[in-house]
Amino acid sequence: MSRIVYVNGQYLPEAEATVSIFDRGFLMADAVYEVTSVLDGKLLDFAGHQARLARSLNELEMQRPCSDDELLAIHRELVTRNDLTDGMIYLQVTRGNPGDRDFAFPDASVKPTLVLFTQSKPGMADAPAAKTGIKVISIDDLRWGRRDIKTVQLLYPSLGKMMAKKAGADDAWLVEDGHVTEGTSNNAYIVKGGRIITRNLSHDILHGITRAAVLRFAAEAQMEVEERPFTIAEAKAADEAFYTSASGFVTPVVEIDGAAIGTGKPGAVAKRLREIYLDESRKTAI
Ligand code: PDD
Repeated sequence: MSRIVYVNGQYLPEAEATVSIFDRGFLMADAVYEVTSVLDGKLLDFAGHQARLARSLNELEMQRPCSDDELLAIHRELVTRNDLTDGMIYLQVTRGNPGDRDFAFPDASVKPTLVLFTQSKPGMADAPAAKTGIKVISIDDLRWGRRDIKTVQLLYPSLGKMMAKKAGADDAWLVEDGHVTEGTSNNAYIVKGGRIITRNLSHDILHGITRAAVLRFAAEAQMEVEERPFTIAEAKAADEAFYTSASGFVTPVVEIDGAAIGTGKPGAVAKRLREIYLDESRKTAI
């Protein structure tokens, strides 16, 4: 079935949706994005994703395409038109189409491009990876220095994912100055002696919306959390490891660079946090 997607004010069948070849998103990766999960037809952590979108736009001095209320209405309309039960809504804002290629930003008369589409993922809350855990490799973090801005410059994370696949693993954890920054498309955690350790927020990592929720739930459940960088050696010696993201929720990591973590099976902390995250975010889904 062909999807109905949203482009600059119009709902169109996907084959009819187009963006100019002069769009700065296409020519210069001058664009930001958000991925919001949908469970049972409802949006998870919507306010958090909109707040981060506003921040990304602000950091890049990019115009807001429309109000938060309008964005919510578009998300809901896409869920309805595509009969989406479980999956994601991808949103991208670019600096628009100046009609030519130029490194300088266009003036304010050039309006941002806004694109949204759905991706159906039936049963996503019961993904096999939640039960089996995933394997990661470590690679150098060669991305730019403002990873807190959710830009569409995803070539290096894509290369990292391919390096992982070639090595028989599922994902890569990125390492800078001897410490893990994050996964290719997720935030990284280890657990040692019951204490949850994850890198502190800075320009070095994306400020995950799932991360914020999970750390809040962990604190409410009296779990100890330490926000600091950790090494691959620490991760290998940890009791367990996991990652968080909008689409993976909380997913256990059972192997790093070929070494089993803890028992080599998904750990109890990751399991509990996944349950709490899914329960609580379903309650507040809109
Ligand atoms: N990725 N770090 C990076 C580099 C990411 O790309 C993501 C999200 C996260 C987790 O953020 P959140 O919890 O807000 O999803 C951390 C999305 C899901 C993606 O690119 O598909």
